[in-house]
Amino acid sequence: MPSSYYIAPAIDSASSFKDNIFKEKVLFCTGGGSGICKGMTEAIMRHGANAVIIGRNLDRLTASAKDLSNKTGTTCIPAQADVRSPQSLQDAVKKTMERFGRIDFVICGAAGNFMAPIAGLSENAFKTVLEIDTLGTYNTIKATIQHVRVTKGAYISVSATLHYRGTPYQAHVSAAKAAVDSLSNTLAVEEGPHGVRSNVIAPGFTSGTEGMRVMTGNKRNKADGFSNPLGRFTEITDIANAAVFLFSPSASFITGQIIPIDGGGEHLRGDFFPYPSSVLDPSSVQKLLKGKL
Ligand SMILES: NC(=O)c1ccc[n+]([C@@H]2O[C@H](COP(=O)([O-])OP(=O)(O)OC[C@H]3O[C@@H](n4cnc5c(N)ncnc54)[C@H](OP(=O)(O)O)[C@@H]3O)[C@@H](O)[C@H]2O)c1
Repeated sequence: MPSSYYIAPAIDSASSFKDNIFKEKVLFCTGGGSGICKGMTEAIMRHGANAVIIGRNLDRLTASAKDLSNKTGTTCIPAQADVRSPQSLQDAVKKTMERFGRIDFVICGAAGNFMAPIAGLSENAFKTVLEIDTLGTYNTIKATIQHVRVTKGAYISVSATLHYRGTPYQAHVSAAKAAVDSLSNTLAVEEGPHGVRSNVIAPGFTSGTEGMRVMTGNKRNKADGFSNPLGRFTEITDIANAAVFLFSPSASFITGQIIPIDGGGEHLRGDFFPYPSSVLDPSSVQKLLKGKL
């Protein structure tokens, strides 16, 4: 065994979850300009880290970076990039290194979603979601890994629970996220000996997100027809707390894991749409579907 082989240290629990556990650390977060990934970024910054948030919409990114810096007292900067473009991600990494000189944590969270049946989904629509979610995660890993090895840092990929079973109208995202889970597992195995960890967070339906708006058409509220053992939808803060834990020294021996944050919903999964009537008569859910039926 080479002498450089990395052995993860065990950490006393009293050393975790203090305000400054991530002091001097730097987070690189795709999708950090909005929703779940912005919430994760805020929580990690509240524990001392600086951050770079990546997305395509520079105006929104700039506003979010300012908001995050103001709320947390640490520094967040925007880096405009499309995760489908390796070059634009490399430029974002360059900007990060010039500003902060290191990358400790990476969140691969950029994604797209809409609802459509396979029969009505165009090749292009299917391909686009795979390009953003799967290829985008791969491109983000490729652009950052050399720097994350140096800091013996960690990755979190944001996946979903849709693909654990067959979820109607979500073939594209389910295929893309299954591949994201697989990528993270391989990353954990290949990079563990270099001291790099990789885990997946799989959110359930999460309140206050664009994804929730698309999936529910703003028609449902928390009490309406959707249940899990803990009795509410996932909140962004639930996912943010898990991210803080997974990046913290207390998780130093946790890698290659896929962690649903869904209140145990996976074990009590009902049908999102009435089944099979919604499949046999798509017009009953037409308003939520993209693509020709
Ligand atoms: N909301 C839920 O209930 C739910 C459930 C399960 C999993 N998830 C996962 O959680 C993550 C966050 O979702 P969210 O609901 O919070 O949605 P969101 O607010 O729409 O976040 C998606 C982010 O990805 C960025 N993005 C999209 N395409 C991109 C591209 N080509 N290049 C760079 N950035 C891109 C968007 O920024 P720009 O538009 O500026 O590029 C946006 O900030 C996603 O991975 C999603 O699949 C969400």
